[in-house]
Amino acid sequence: MSTGQIADPNWSVPQPLRVARIRREAAAVATFEVTTTSPFVFSAGQFNMLYAFGLGEVAISISGDPAEEDRIMHTVRGVGAVSNALTRLRRGAVIGVRGPYGSCWPIAEAEGSDVVMVAGGLGLAPLRPAIYRALAYRERYGRVVLLYGARGPTDILYRHELERWRRRLDVDIEVTVDHAAADWRGNVGGVPALIPRISFDPEHAVALVCGPEIMMRFTIAALRDRGVAMDRIYLSMERNMKCAVGQCGHCQFGPDFVCREGPIFRFDRIAPLFNLREI
Ligand SMILES: Cc1cc2nc3c(=O)[nH]c(=O)nc-3n(C[C@H](O)[C@H](O)[C@H](O)COP(=O)(O)OP(=O)(O)OC[C@H]3O[C@@H](n4cnc5c(N)ncnc54)[C@H](O)[C@@H]3O)c2cc1C
Ligand code: FES
Repeated sequence: MSTGQIADPNWSVPQPLRVARIRREAAAVATFEVTTTSPFVFSAGQFNMLYAFGLGEVAISISGDPAEEDRIMHTVRGVGAVSNALTRLRRGAVIGVRGPYGSCWPIAEAEGSDVVMVAGGLGLAPLRPAIYRALAYRERYGRVVLLYGARGPTDILYRHELERWRRRLDVDIEVTVDHAAADWRGNVGGVPALIPRISFDPEHAVALVCGPEIMMRFTIAALRDRGVAMDRIYLSMERNMKCAVGQCGHCQFGPDFVCREGPIFRFDRIAPLFNLREI
């Protein structure tokens, strides 16, 4: 099983697209939808380059449903000039979109297996298309598990959808927060601590992991303790990007470019580098 690669992006130059809807998810985090008249085809885990006119471009994961080809969703946290501008967009605003780029989660290849998705913070955004895909073809998978950790209850993304998915009997969803007030009745603690408690078959599971690197390290250790083999674990890496097409070298990660060979990597391929903190 390997990560997929799509050779040709839908758009290699930024397309001006209009924001049709925007939802405030949490402090400084927004999900917005742009519409397109030509079908936009992507695979779960891929990203687009979003251009805020006059400011610059950033890589942003596609967070919507791969089955919906007439709209594209992104979830952005404002941390710098470009991302802040994107989180402040209003309905009707125009942004530039090129992509999709990069490798994808092996969600189609995982059919027949249990799927364990582990997300920390904004890491839920690139996993959301994989969740849509797994739920759309639910009968093709064994157990489907989503473990999600947020900083606090008000940082939880896609809360209505999580509630809706939770009501399904065929998907196991656990949410945990780092800190909460006394009225929070859910889990408190890091997301890796949920892994020993959940039910899945480690020998026949595929794990998809996305979040801050420290969270991914502990998650991988917990998955390995449960007996999940390194070649059944996939993670999404973030590095600074410029060109997104393997030309500029900004996103170099050892011998790979994250924009071209990644952002989704099979863990056994990158384990020696992943364990070196300075890379
Ligand atoms: C494949 C890929 C997918 C990504 N998907 C998303 C996504 O779905 N949503 C999203 O919001 N971002 C995502 N990012 C991160 C995004 O591309 C930008 O790095 C980020 O939005 C900051 O861009 P900026 O130009 O606004 O800030 P910059 O001017 O680059 O940074 C401003 C400050 O924020 C810090 N910073 C930069 N990036 C981050 C970060 N990711 N988290 C916290 N602090 C940071 C910098 O160190 C700096 O101090 C992704 C990156 C990659 C490589
Ligand atoms: S962003 Fe230019 S090589 Fe990856």
